[in-house]
Amino acid sequence: MQYQANDQRYQSMEYRRCGNSGLKLPAISLGLWHNFGHIDPQENAAAILRMAFNHGITHFDLANNYGPPPGSAEENFGKIFKANFIPYRDELVISSKAGWGMWPGPYGDWGSKKYLVASLDQSLKRMGLDYMDIFYHHRPDPNTPLEETLATLDGMVRQGKVLYIGISSYKPEEAARAFRILKQMGTPCLIHQPKYSMFERWVEDGLLDVLEENGVGCIAFSPLAQGILTNKYLHGIPADSRANSHRGNGAIEEVQLTEEKIGKARQLNVLAEQRGQNLAQMALAWILKDKRITSVLIGASRPEQVLDSIRCLDNYSFTEEELAKINSILK
Ligand SMILES: NC(=O)c1ccc[n+]([C@@H]2O[C@H](COP(=O)([O-])OP(=O)(O)OC[C@H]3O[C@@H](n4cnc5c(N)ncnc54)[C@H](OP(=O)(O)O)[C@@H]3O)[C@@H](O)[C@H]2O)c1
Repeated sequence: MQYQANDQRYQSMEYRRCGNSGLKLPAISLGLWHNFGHIDPQENAAAILRMAFNHGITHFDLANNYGPPPGSAEENFGKIFKANFIPYRDELVISSKAGWGMWPGPYGDWGSKKYLVASLDQSLKRMGLDYMDIFYHHRPDPNTPLEETLATLDGMVRQGKVLYIGISSYKPEEAARAFRILKQMGTPCLIHQPKYSMFERWVEDGLLDVLEENGVGCIAFSPLAQGILTNKYLHGIPADSRANSHRGNGAIEEVQLTEEKIGKARQLNVLAEQRGQNLAQMALAWILKDKRITSVLIGASRPEQVLDSIRCLDNYSFTEEELAKINSILK
């Protein structure tokens, strides 16, 4: 039967303006890094996407290399999109990226025009899309002139293949330089995608200020530290968890679940319960308390996690005392 989106989908989601642009993004966005590859059950993948859209998550984030194998998340998204979301195309903001190794040889990685143009064309084809809403350079390339990378992104916008451009994991000075160059080219950068969670706070040391000064939005990836900032690992490693899945491609592994991290998660969990939230909800709320954040980019291995995480929107204000307590736990 044809999927019919929930007609209440815009009732409870919050939409935040992305920097100084005209585009609003949902405060919660869904990423397809894991759980959408060829190794994953496709009915579950479709159910996660439908659950998200049914609750106002209008932004899905991909990259050329998501899977495994690389490319398979885009391919599977394309199939799910075709079967479910074609009538809703204009209600969706779909992104992809290039910048990590994707195919062999000197033209399948980093930031050359040769690589980026080919990669975007491949992504559009795999996903069955006419255009990409946001296309990112996935990581800085120390060897390609920034001007070449950015002129390529600017050209994609002029060709109509991409609506907006973004950068990911650029440090504050690199990002500021990129924003200057893009402004001169006439295609302002829409958004920066950095890793940001209670456990990874580097963006607080300058990046968020640079984004605000330049009117660029911020979408925080891995806001749950791949699941460590949830109640999932408080009492061991469940069989059905990412840490136990041996997926590779940057997925969290057992060795990263140190006693120190789990100890902090346990203490944070107590505070979350006092706030009437679970740890996942508090970890997301803690990021969304900052108005410079446009969206938190969550992952999910099942539809119920999407529902659970969205409830962070019920309370994302913190007292000074709570913030001090969180800082002292994280120290
Ligand atoms: N730009 C970049 O370089 C970059 C890098 C990495 C990621 N990203 C983007 O960021 C997105 C999110 O990354 P991520 O998947 O690492 O995000 P995350 O939200 O930190 O972690 C997602 C994982 O946390 C667990 N989880 C989620 N909600 C939960 C809940 N309510 N209760 C309990 N557990 C919950 C699930 O783990 P289980 O699977 O164990 O159930 C889920 O797979 C990616 O899909 C991608 O779009 C971008």
